[in-house]
Amino acid sequence: MQSSPTKAHPTNAEVNTAAAAIRAGRLVIFPTETVYGLGGDATNPAAIAAIYRLKGRPAHNPLITHVPDIASAEQIGVFSASARKLADAFWPGPLTLVVSMRTATDVAPAVTAGLATIAIRVPAHPVSQALLRQADVPVAAPSANPSGRLSPTRATDLATEMSGLGVQILDAGPCQHGLESTVIDTTRSAPRLLRQGAITAATIAERTGTNLAAPDRTGADRPPSPGMLLRHYAPLTPVRLDAAAAADDEVLLAFGPPPPDTKCFMLNLSPAGDLTEAAANLYHMLHVLDRYALDRYVLDGHTARAIAVAPIPNHGLGEVINERLTRAAASHGAPDLAHPAPRP
Ligand code: TXA
Ligand code: MG
Repeated sequence: MQSSPTKAHPTNAEVNTAAAAIRAGRLVIFPTETVYGLGGDATNPAAIAAIYRLKGRPAHNPLITHVPDIASAEQIGVFSASARKLADAFWPGPLTLVVSMRTATDVAPAVTAGLATIAIRVPAHPVSQALLRQADVPVAAPSANPSGRLSPTRATDLATEMSGLGVQILDAGPCQHGLESTVIDTTRSAPRLLRQGAITAATIAERTGTNLAAPDRTGADRPPSPGMLLRHYAPLTPVRLDAAAAADDEVLLAFGPPPPDTKCFMLNLSPAGDLTEAAANLYHMLHVLDRYALDRYVLDGHTARAIAVAPIPNHGLGEVINERLTRAAASHGAPDLAHPAPRP
């Protein structure tokens, strides 16, 4: 997959400037090993208000607070034995733990949407690590996309609403995992999966012996993770799943060997059928295909208007990929009034 060349790594000076910006109450777009985040000082109410405003995020959807290590996490959250075990096994890494918040923290109430619990993550990406250590404050950061849209896994995929904000962007090229962190609620008797993500439930069971309770869809989770709301992770054009082949007006997101005689514009999540590679490519390729379909790309006399997606095996990371794709496809049941698709 070609993309415009990106720098392998921001310079130390750029990271210093970004850390100073966060300390001064400004926002920064920075890379993690999952997706790019829009970060601000979690202890600064004005910075947090700006995050909600710029993302168009509903005030009841709490943010994840990023810190560089477990010791910093323990200053803001109370870790049960099960939370500690998960943290020891997967931090730094693409895992977010919901824990009880310490009463004496400086974290702005809006970060947790007023809840008594807080979602904490210790990212492994060297740029996140350097930024968090230098900023020396907890950094609240949702994915750097307008609410409901695809998460950016490359700086080049940032929506213009985000790249045009005038905030500093630390560009470190593609994110390793390409799916958001797995979110686990550890505040109940049994740890519960709130959002599937880069670490599968099977891997968590294997490495820690923890069998996660399934997400509660009865409404007992208040609030649910926005990742569990249906309208999410959406391209602007319609998405059709489990497509054996592309129709005349579709571009194709393939997986494994493409259907013979494919003539439409096509990107392949993983020609070798590797689910880890497919996860890393998923959002980026959806971004690119979305642009082709929105631009009504014409190939061999056929005008692209929608995205067809090949079947993805439903095991391991494939299950997570399918979960995100299902949301992307479902979102077209309801028009997105904030981002209307152009008329044909
Ligand atoms: O990979 C990631 O997690 C990325 C990078 C930037 O770290 N961040 C991310 O943030 O995906 P966001 O805001 O897009 O998703 C945060 C998720 C939401 O599903 C939210 O509901 C959940 O975490 N969450 C945050 N605080 C919570 C809490 N106290 N209780 C339950 N869920 C919470
Ligand atoms: Mg998000």
